[in-house]
Amino acid sequence: MFTIGAKVIMSDNNSANTATQKQVVLTGAQPTGRLHLGNYLGAALNWKKMQDDYTCFFMIANQHAITVPTVAAELRKNTYSCLAQYMACGLDPAKSSLFAQSQVIGHTELAWILGCLCPLGQLERMTQFKDKAKKQISVGAGLLYYPALMAADILLYNAHVVPVGEDQKQHLEITRDLADKFNATYSPTFNVPAPFIGKAGARVMSLQNPTSKMSKSDPNQAGTVYIVDTDDVIRKKIMSAVTDSEGSIRADAENKPGVTNLISIYSAVTGTSVADIEAEFAGKGYGDFKKAVADAVVAMLSPIRTRYEELVSQKDYLDSVLKAGAEAAQRAANRTLSKVYRKVGFLQ
Ligand code: TRP
Repeated sequence: MFTIGAKVIMSDNNSANTATQKQVVLTGAQPTGRLHLGNYLGAALNWKKMQDDYTCFFMIANQHAITVPTVAAELRKNTYSCLAQYMACGLDPAKSSLFAQSQVIGHTELAWILGCLCPLGQLERMTQFKDKAKKQISVGAGLLYYPALMAADILLYNAHVVPVGEDQKQHLEITRDLADKFNATYSPTFNVPAPFIGKAGARVMSLQNPTSKMSKSDPNQAGTVYIVDTDDVIRKKIMSAVTDSEGSIRADAENKPGVTNLISIYSAVTGTSVADIEAEFAGKGYGDFKKAVADAVVAMLSPIRTRYEELVSQKDYLDSVLKAGAEAAQRAANRTLSKVYRKVGFLQ
């Protein structure tokens, strides 16, 4: 069962639909290197589960990546490694289309058209734009235009459902506005897509600073568990997680953020409820509890790391996955783009 805004979508309530009528999911991730436990529990795991119920497009957003300075060789390498990590997490090219944004013609074409409908002020008000712009010496126009490109990614496939993190909700709002605006300006064309925000329990905090989200840009990397960390490194990071001096294993986000974070990680990994975890560890110490959390996380991530290592060295295979994914995506993109061009009055 997936919760989408106020609506609850039961995964089996479209059983009357034929395979071709499945709803469309599109989501994207920038190829930024290593995925961490928060990316896995909060995103990749949901995407994996959606593959059986939806027609899924999973996109590596390399065109978004260049909105801030990038090094070509790193972008190329990270595209492969990101694909291999997502596949190791369970994204399956036999079920879904996995592709790089740059390999499909239509994203930037549609972004241009949507950008022409998008009020400049709305782009300038985006929190992510303001945050990222502050960190640049010179701000490229692409950084401002980014939400129009993201809207194009989604609308090009007429997606119904878009799994995104909290930080992308504002961009999804723009996407919905642009879908409405295009439909009103020309004629009904796009679905207005709904966000899919993963379970709150999957919000993973830093192990060292449990009031901030786990992040790859955290200066204290001991607080971030990567899915490709070795078993030893994972154990060490979890055993040295910050707790408190109370000594009891109970969830209390305000007063015990460290222990609460470990409880919610353990809950997400093992599927045990918070109440059951509190009962199971009543009277036990933090050392015992951390060891249980470490065992559970290692058991979950170890096969993923092994699979990642197998995949990442097989460039030809990864290329063939991307190529097949891009071909399927291109077919869908062509249908939308040709409709859009006709409505806008572009000759084809
Ligand atoms: N902007 C998203 C991020 O940085 C990545 C992304 C690009 C995306 N296009 C998308 C996510 C379309 C969802 C749908 O995380």
